[in-house]
Amino acid sequence: MIRTESATAATAIPGLPPVPILGWRGNMLRFFRDPLTYLKQSQRTYGNVVAFAHGGNGNLLATVEDCPGTVFAFGEANNQAILTKTDVFQSSPMSSTQLGHAPTTRLLSGIFSMNGTKHRQQRRLMMPAFHKKRIEGYLTDMAAMTELLLTRWQPGSQTDFHQDMMELTLQIACKTLFGVDILHGDQNIGAMIQNWIKSNLNPLIMARVDLPGTPYRRFTRLSTELDSAMRAILDRKRASGVDEGDVLSMLIQSRDENGEQMTEDELVGQANILFFAGHETTANTLTWTIFLLACHPEIYTKVLEELDTKLGGATPTIDQLASLELLDRVIKESMRILPPVPFLLRVAMEDTDLGGYRIGRGSEVIYSPFITHHSPDLYPEPERFNPDRWLTIDPSPYAYIPFGAGLRMCIGAPFALMEAKLVLAMMLQRYRLTLADTKVDREVMITMSPKGGMRVLVQPQDKRPIDAPPAIQGTIRELVELP
Ligand code: HEM
Repeated sequence: MIRTESATAATAIPGLPPVPILGWRGNMLRFFRDPLTYLKQSQRTYGNVVAFAHGGNGNLLATVEDCPGTVFAFGEANNQAILTKTDVFQSSPMSSTQLGHAPTTRLLSGIFSMNGTKHRQQRRLMMPAFHKKRIEGYLTDMAAMTELLLTRWQPGSQTDFHQDMMELTLQIACKTLFGVDILHGDQNIGAMIQNWIKSNLNPLIMARVDLPGTPYRRFTRLSTELDSAMRAILDRKRASGVDEGDVLSMLIQSRDENGEQMTEDELVGQANILFFAGHETTANTLTWTIFLLACHPEIYTKVLEELDTKLGGATPTIDQLASLELLDRVIKESMRILPPVPFLLRVAMEDTDLGGYRIGRGSEVIYSPFITHHSPDLYPEPERFNPDRWLTIDPSPYAYIPFGAGLRMCIGAPFALMEAKLVLAMMLQRYRLTLADTKVDREVMITMSPKGGMRVLVQPQDKRPIDAPPAIQGTIRELVELP
């Protein structure tokens, strides 16, 4: 650990003791094995500003030099400080920008790794593609893709619901972001991106061993392929000169107030990041919402009644979606109790104060939607799935943060919410979905998903009240009160 003045200050922050013999690296093993337990234990034992390991640690997630340690910052006030002081608490470039491979660097150089003026300019250029009217135009495509999945499901069969939601949101993302229809023979950019994301999560790529069969070689190959596929899509769109209605068409046209537009490299980076940010998060929201409904038959039955009364079996229009108030609360509560992104990272760019402690320049700072949403001060009985709590509470933007808050808040939130609501309304009207799995474990790899998938029994929707669910086992029980 670097012995700077700020590093010394960081040692004053309380935190879990280093693991015997292994030191903070032992804590790192514990953290990556089960980050949510580690976060909960840190918060319950030490409060709202907690060192990852007492005495400091080296880099955990970011690639900044001279990192004096990692600090967890919990609670509404600390969220507000981190999310509003964006010059101090900056987003950190993803580690694999250090891989020394130009197409990889391009693919990873989207908005997530930008800060300051550059971040604001790129965000302004992206916003028009996510304006309300523009997003509403995606409803028809979203409904058509959902309809295809519903036609494919066989009544009486079991399916891996999480896998199905991953495929569905992938198809929707390809169509709405790039105008590419992967179901009808267009080049399979979706599969390419998925393989690339999976490969990117392999820590062995950081070894940079460029030999046949190594994870690095595989990853850089995938990057080269994906980069050229994206360029081909861009070239085709530019050549046609037509706004095809998708997000990328809009990004190509977008100009800021100085008439500046995105460069080719920026377009590739931003398009890739949009995909990265939007597809798995939405799939997990859909999966956890069905899980929670299936475990709470009374609420599930009321949702079915609402759908029946308001839609009568039809695919909802935009106005009808807005009228589904209970479904709205259900999704909101689902993202509170099981937020798809349970924690996020910033880096302190200067020595600063946070929650009464001095944080050294270069510190990694982690804020957590999960811990915030499970705070009993903000949400009484936090482990209880209770959509009706939203009839009486109105938390501040820093107390309910499934999409973050402030200048870096998720651009795609309205898009994701419209998609989630539409897909749920269509699915639940057609099929009676109940859990086939009795053991559900969580897995956190940036996003939180059910480990090994989640099996669901698909039956025709006969509108009977939903039966009590099987007794669910598994680590999900630590996050949600279940019957
Ligand atoms: C349920 C689904 C989603 C969830 C839970 C979610 C959550 C988040 C979170 C927590 C952040 C980070 C805020 C931070 O760094 O503090 C974020 C940022 C972002 N999200 Fe989403 N997101 C979802 C869907 C989408 C979709 C569908 C898109 C686009 C198609 C999208 C695009 C973005 C972008 C571009 C950013 C970066 C904003 C910036 O740095 O200025 N997200 N999202």
